[in-house]
Amino acid sequence: MSEIATYRREGRIGVIALNNPPVNALSLALRKGIIACLAEGAADAGAEALVLICEGRTFIAGADITEFDRPPMDPFLDIVIEHLEASPKAVVAAIHGTALGGGLETALGCHYRVAAPSAKCGLPEVSLGLVPGAGGTQRLPRLIGPADAAQIIASGVPVNAKKAHDLGLVDAIAEGDLLAGAIAFAERVVDEKMPLRKVRDLEEKVKNVPEGLFEGLRAEFAQKQRGFNSPQRAIDCVEAATQLPMDAGLKREREIFFEAVTGDQSKAQRHIFFSERAASKIPDVGKEIQAQPIKTAAVVGAGTMGGGIAMNFANAGIPVYLLDSTPELLEKGMGIVRKNYESGVKKGRMTEVQFEQVMGLIRPTLAYEDFANADIVVEAVFEEMEIKKQVFEKLDAICKPGCVLATNTSTLDVNEIAACTKRPESVIGLHFFSPANVMKLLEIVRGAKTSKELIATAFELSKAIKKVGVLVGVCDGFVGNRMVHPYVRESMFLVEEGAAPEQVDQALYDFGFAMGPCAMSDLAGLDVGWRIRKRQAATRPLDERYCDIADKICELGRYGQKTGAGWYRYEPGNRAPQPDPVVTELIAAVRRENSIEARSLSNEEIVERCVYALVNEGARILEEGIALRSSDIDVIYIYGYGFPVFRGGPMFYADTIGLDKVYARVCEFHKQHGGLWAPAPLLKELAEAGKRFTDYRRA
Ligand code: 3HC
Ligand code: NAI
Repeated sequence: MSEIATYRREGRIGVIALNNPPVNALSLALRKGIIACLAEGAADAGAEALVLICEGRTFIAGADITEFDRPPMDPFLDIVIEHLEASPKAVVAAIHGTALGGGLETALGCHYRVAAPSAKCGLPEVSLGLVPGAGGTQRLPRLIGPADAAQIIASGVPVNAKKAHDLGLVDAIAEGDLLAGAIAFAERVVDEKMPLRKVRDLEEKVKNVPEGLFEGLRAEFAQKQRGFNSPQRAIDCVEAATQLPMDAGLKREREIFFEAVTGDQSKAQRHIFFSERAASKIPDVGKEIQAQPIKTAAVVGAGTMGGGIAMNFANAGIPVYLLDSTPELLEKGMGIVRKNYESGVKKGRMTEVQFEQVMGLIRPTLAYEDFANADIVVEAVFEEMEIKKQVFEKLDAICKPGCVLATNTSTLDVNEIAACTKRPESVIGLHFFSPANVMKLLEIVRGAKTSKELIATAFELSKAIKKVGVLVGVCDGFVGNRMVHPYVRESMFLVEEGAAPEQVDQALYDFGFAMGPCAMSDLAGLDVGWRIRKRQAATRPLDERYCDIADKICELGRYGQKTGAGWYRYEPGNRAPQPDPVVTELIAAVRRENSIEARSLSNEEIVERCVYALVNEGARILEEGIALRSSDIDVIYIYGYGFPVFRGGPMFYADTIGLDKVYARVCEFHKQHGGLWAPAPLLKELAEAGKRFTDYRRA
């Protein structure tokens, strides 16, 4: 018998204990181990029933995702589940942590399920671009009904133990020791002669399905999960459970699973799953480097970013000072924070008590002296080097040794900021994205002298505040904003050449972006880019192509949503962009001025030019070592810029297309549109060598 699955007896009950750290994923060895332990339990004359329980932090968290890129290996999970279901002795699953995917499917193969109060159950396969592949879509509807099952499966969102109990997904909640509770339940099964209940035989709930159920679900998820195939396929599977006998339903599910597993969307979503986890692994910052504890925090600047950053600390239970330069500005900043939280209460996302708690953790102040004991200070004042330096000099004088001094700058040189302190090793960039209390991305900017402890601390902090941290190097715009410039610039050229802003936006929205570049610029504020372009004007080569449409829009005082107009106009209280004849006329005038005859552009060209502009800049960033790996760039674009997850991020998408093809198009654009399209040397090198960004590591 394998080490990772062991059989023992406790009184009248046989216990099968699984131990495959970290999350008890169903590797081949574990699958074989379960079958072996079942046989042992069956042969043990003293065992009247069996309990299946896991060691470590969780019940089985699913199939082993690393196996999906290899040919299926026998026994597949469905065989394990058949063994469980066919066991002559009742099997009770004892669930703690998360029973996810294949883990929940395993539990559904057991005759009964007992859960710890903190346990969660779910079928999150759609998050990996899959459908459950070991009977989950056939058994769950039979157990709890197709409507609830389809919600759980198509959303991928787990339910907590109480909800699972209410739905009938688990039979009992074990307060206290889980193993003892599960053994007591198994003894009851024996003593009360409860049947060996096989979920596959429960037909009642899959009969008489409400009319229109599946059409409604398809429409709901087409909207909620726009562009994702797997939720739709998951609904097909649940529908099959209501139409086909069990074995035919299982066959249907398996076909759809294997179709999905080899599809581009699942490959992309699995890439993001592992990339997100890889991002925090920094080659020279090993586990031996200790993170500093963060128990108290402070934020300088109570504006758009500062308020949101303070909310992150408060949400994690960390008391935080929020400082601005006048009582009025502080009051204004606190007012916005309060309004944000109040809207959370109204929407039922937090209780009044939680509201009071988080508000109590944010302490407005005008005095830097209050920061003396802070473990971290995040600066979020105006984007001006001189002001930032003044702030850091003050922090250097007041903060205790070891305090993390972080800047939220989006473009400025973190090394220059660090150099104005006597402790550059304690200075780091923490680049939050707007709205800072919502966006999951945190670019962690490593300065030339930033200490390894600080980097470890930044990653720990990002986990504590539920962000995805990605390490980046110092350059103008770091990774995300540096790439966004050529992307937005290209969208302006497309408009200049003949596309309407709404066509550009629609093409990229249909590609899967959360919004197109014009709508995005309106949201971020057109004045931001305008200021940057004005700053760059002095050094811009005279022969470089330049489009001034956005500048002219700004000259009209149209800065985007905040002024009610930008590329689009906005009705008061409504964020939906409305095409505006004023902008159409402005664009036409620019074309006339530059003797450009508007041509019709295909959506394909729009997508290629915008996305390949991202990819080409990404290749430079990778080559320069500003990002450690191409997957880090993908994570940044997914979590910070609304790039479609099902395409895996810009670099993975380019790999999917084939770098030779991408390179060939970039060369064509270079010929047609000039120097800004010069292919990145790394793109050329990898394309010619038949390689991928995903495998590239800088020497
Ligand atoms: N297979 C392989 N490795 C897995 C895994 C899985 N199912 N789930 C997690 N891991 C790995 C992670 O990659 C990570 O590895 P690393 O330490 O080398 O980076 C390690 O386990 C720990 O994972 P997390 O950092 O995510 O740990 P957390 O405690 O934060 O979260 C979790 C635990 C909630 C279980 C989370 O890991 C998770 O959501 N896992 C995926 C669950 C899932 O999607 N299951 C369905 C799989 S598909 C399936 O079952 C198909 C079936 O229907 C046939
Ligand atoms: P903002 O203008 O909304 O807020 C800045 C705040 O800092 C104001 O309340 C101002 O009164 C205060 N302030 C200025 N000088 C100060 C000083 N010396 N001491 C104390 N308070 C001072 O600006 P925003 O948008 O919040 O930006 C702040 C920083 O965050 C900038 O560095 C910006 O580049 C960066 N950033 C902004 C993003 C955005 O989308 N707005 C996104 C990511 C980073």
